Amino acid sequence: MICGVMKNMKNLIAIALVIASNAVKSQNSQPVIYSEPHRPQIHFSPLQKWMNDPNGMVFYNHQYHLFYQDYPDSTIWGPMHWGHATSKDLVHWKHHPIALYPDSLGYIFSGSAVVDYNNTSGFGKNGEIPLVAIFTQHNSKAQKEGKIDFQNQSIAYSLDDGMTWTKYSDNPVLKNPGIMDFRDPKVMWYEREKKWIMTLATYDRVTFFSSKDLKGWTKESEFGKEVGAHGGVWECPDLFTLNYQNKKIWILLVSINPGGPNKGSATQYFTGEFDGKKFIPLQTDTRWIDYGPDDYAGVTWFNTSERKIFLGWMSNWQYATRVPTEKWRSAMTIPRDLGLEKIGDKYFITSQPVHEMSVIDDRRAELKKITTSNKEIAKWAGKLSGPARLRLASDKIESFSITLSSEIGEQIVVGYDKAANNYYIDRTNSGKVSFEKGFAGIHTVPRLSDKAGFDMVLVIDNASIELFADNGLSVMTEVFFPNSLFSAINIQSTRDFRINSLTYFKLKSIW
Ligand code: FRU
Repeated sequence: MICGVMKNMKNLIAIALVIASNAVKSQNSQPVIYSEPHRPQIHFSPLQKWMNDPNGMVFYNHQYHLFYQDYPDSTIWGPMHWGHATSKDLVHWKHHPIALYPDSLGYIFSGSAVVDYNNTSGFGKNGEIPLVAIFTQHNSKAQKEGKIDFQNQSIAYSLDDGMTWTKYSDNPVLKNPGIMDFRDPKVMWYEREKKWIMTLATYDRVTFFSSKDLKGWTKESEFGKEVGAHGGVWECPDLFTLNYQNKKIWILLVSINPGGPNKGSATQYFTGEFDGKKFIPLQTDTRWIDYGPDDYAGVTWFNTSERKIFLGWMSNWQYATRVPTEKWRSAMTIPRDLGLEKIGDKYFITSQPVHEMSVIDDRRAELKKITTSNKEIAKWAGKLSGPARLRLASDKIESFSITLSSEIGEQIVVGYDKAANNYYIDRTNSGKVSFEKGFAGIHTVPRLSDKAGFDMVLVIDNASIELFADNGLSVMTEVFFPNSLFSAINIQSTRDFRINSLTYFKLKSIW
C-alpha cells in the first residue's frame, strides 16, 4: 500500500516540482532582486534596512496601502519613519518613497489611516477626498530629558490617494496627559453617531477618544486594566466588527510585549460590544489571534467594508534586531481574512490566508484517501526549495507530524499532539538559532475546535511557516533561518490515520 502510494506520489511530485527561480523584477519593473539568503518570496519585506509594525493600512481607489515602521539608515530600530508600499491584490507589492519623516515633534511611531469621505477634517479643498493618517510622535529628546509626556498624537493628510502626505500645521492633535506609554492610534468611523473613534494604547489599558473632525479629540472611556493578559505593555490596538450570521460582534485587538503565550510579543483579542463610548467584553478568558512567536502589532485595513483583512509584523521584539539577515530585517505575515466561529456560547476569531493568494499558485499535487496502519504515511522528496502551500483535511484527527527538512539535516516540524490537544511547531533544529537563547524551541497552540475532523493549511516560505488549523481557529506563525533550503516533506503518524486529502501547491515568487 505504502509503496503504491509512494510511487504515485513520485509521479505527482515530478509534475509538481518546478524549482522556482527568483524573479528579478517586481510588478512595477523595479529592479528588485529578492534572492538573498532567507529572503521571503511570498511575503512583503522591505527592500533594505529595518522594518517593524504595519501602519496606516487603508484601501482606497483599488489600492491597498501598507505603511510600516521604517528606519532607512540601519538594520536595527532607530528614528522611525513611515515606509510605504501598495498592492492591488494583497499579494504583489510595489515599493514607494518614504511617506512620513521624523520632525521636531519626534519620530513617527505606529498609527492608522482613514478615508475622510465627508471631508470632516476640511483638508479637501476642491472636492478632493482626503486620506488622513493618525500617528504617534515620539519625542526622544524629551524622553532623554526625563519628561513623561513625550508621546503625542499627530495627523497628516493626502490629497493624491495616499501617495504624498502633508503634516497638519497644528500638530499634535491629542496631547499627552502624563502617561508614558500613550501611543498607536487606530481610528474607525462610528456610523451610528457619525463620529470618529480612536483606540489608543495607554500603558496597561486602551483609551477610547471620539472626534467629529479628526482634529479635536474627547476622551470617552478606558478598557482593560483588570482584563486580559498583562505580561507586558499594551500596544497597537484595533477596534472593528465581525459578523456572525446576522449578529455584529465587536472585536478589540491588543498587542502586548512581552507576555505572549509562547514568550515575547503577541496579540490578544477581546470579543464584546461597543456603544460609541464603552467597550463591554463578552469573555473573561485570554485569547490570542495567533499563538506563534512571530505575529505582532497586527491590525486590519480600513475601508474594506464588511471584510476585515489583518496583517501583522512577522517577528518578535525578543530577537527582532538580531535575526540573521544582512540587508533587511523582517517581513509581514500573509494578509488574512478574519471571521468568527461560535463554540458553545463563545465567539472565536478565525484567520485564513486571503483567497487572492491563489494568483501565485503554480503547480499542484493532490493525494486522496491516504490510509496507513502505523508509521509513515507519506514521504514527499525532491527539490522542494521555495514557497508552498500545503492543505490537508480529514474526518478524524490523530497525532501526526509534518517535517520539512534539508539535505544537511535541518528541519521544521509541524504537528498535532492528541494527548495534549495542541498543534505545535518545532524549530529546535531549524538552522541558525544561536542569535537568541530560546529561539530553538517547540511552540504550541491549543486546538479549539470540538469537531471530529480537521483541516490544516500551511503557508511555507524560505524563512517562515504559518499554520491555520480548523478553518483558522488555531493559528501559529514562526520564522526560521535554515542554512540550506528545506527540500523534502515527510508526514508521519504513530497510529492508524487516514487523511482524506492532501494538496501541495508550489507557489510563484511575488517579486
Ligand atoms: C510596537 C511598537 C509600537 C510603537 C512602535 C515603534 O511594536 O513598540 O508601540 O509605536 O513599535 O516603532
